[in-house]
Amino acid sequence: MSTAWMSRYAQRTQGVRSSAIRELLKLTERPEVISFAGGLPASDVFPTDRLRAACRKVLEQQPHLALQYGATEGYEPLREMIARHIARYGIKARSENVLITSGSQQALDLIGKLLLNAGDRVLVEAPTYLGALQAFSVYGAGYVSVPSDEDGLRSDLLEAPLRSGPKVMYVLPNFQNPGGTTLSEVRRHQLVLLADQYGIPIIEDDPYGQLRYEGEHLTPLVVLDRENLRRDSGYSIGNVIYLSTFSKILAPGLRLGWIVAPPEVIGKLVQLKQGADLHTSTFVQMVAYEVARDNFLDQHVKLIRRVYRERRDVMLEALTRCFPPELTWTRPMGGLFLWVTLPQGMDAQRLFESALRENVAFVPGDSFYAPNGHQDDARRHLRLNFSAAQPDQIREGIRRLGVAVKRQLDELRALATGAR
Ligand SMILES: Cc1ncc(COP(=O)(O)O)c(C=O)c1O
Repeated sequence: MSTAWMSRYAQRTQGVRSSAIRELLKLTERPEVISFAGGLPASDVFPTDRLRAACRKVLEQQPHLALQYGATEGYEPLREMIARHIARYGIKARSENVLITSGSQQALDLIGKLLLNAGDRVLVEAPTYLGALQAFSVYGAGYVSVPSDEDGLRSDLLEAPLRSGPKVMYVLPNFQNPGGTTLSEVRRHQLVLLADQYGIPIIEDDPYGQLRYEGEHLTPLVVLDRENLRRDSGYSIGNVIYLSTFSKILAPGLRLGWIVAPPEVIGKLVQLKQGADLHTSTFVQMVAYEVARDNFLDQHVKLIRRVYRERRDVMLEALTRCFPPELTWTRPMGGLFLWVTLPQGMDAQRLFESALRENVAFVPGDSFYAPNGHQDDARRHLRLNFSAAQPDQIREGIRRLGVAVKRQLDELRALATGAR
């Protein structure tokens, strides 16, 4: 329906659609539906008691600070804590390298605002995080998609896309959303070297890095950038902007994330953030600091890893039991998702409708591809979240999904036989 308002909207709103996932989630809200669709952390492991105590402490001991306007850069003790915390992964930062954001989704928006002119292209993985596409598209971004496989983005296919002159590269090296894949150490080196060679900055989005269930932690791109390229070991130069968040290790409702970047980039982002929201909630930052201190967050992350690892294993086992051999899936070493590939001829959108009739839901894969980003293949994938449901629900949900899969596969076979 066209209204007077439509003619008033700015041009940049024209390509903006609400997230297909958010629309899908509405369909999956019926209580009888077991949903593997959302990217939700498990609400049963939120540290509610610790959060309640932290809220009380902050309000009792520092109410004037907590409820007042604060610095755009963020609450200084929290910035320092983040700088200390990321040092264990080799990321060398001081608080001046850290900007606190209202979730890493805001970080993506601010970075889009900082770097993208209309028509600039962002090099992304195919598939990639839908929220990043939404954030960048508002600034008129186009995309160059590079395929990925079990070892993450295909760095062997990077040269030609880089030569075509994208403005920036957006990469999820750890337990990617949606693929669940991890960029191998060799590819990390190649990617950083090539980005440097072509002068293309990297946005390294790492919300899941701490949620590793097996294997060794791999070096972040921001560290390789400094080490491999023998950059100044100080804090002033670097080709990588690194993002992470408290959403998956504490609670997404806090809306708390952070950016690590050279101070000059942080300074510019601070100006842009002032125009967006002045600063992230001081109260929430102080509460997160109180929750995290005295090693609590480390202990809590260990608990989350244990719980999610079990759920991942339950889902993998159920998939092997309930899915026909024509289907394949990734085996993520961490994070929240795995990625299923359907055989030729099957269609994830149709499967979604049929799965809903069995009261089970997932996200069809085509949502995760940039426009023109290898779409042919897109309809043969689905993303499954394994963190939010309890083990028994996972077993039952995958059983139901197996029924829907077999139904579509039988229809396909019947068609093929009829055609002969
Ligand atoms: C890859 C990726 N980046 C960013 C975000 C946004 O997270 P936040 O809750 O910190 O805004 C998500 C959320 O699922 C994500 O998967």
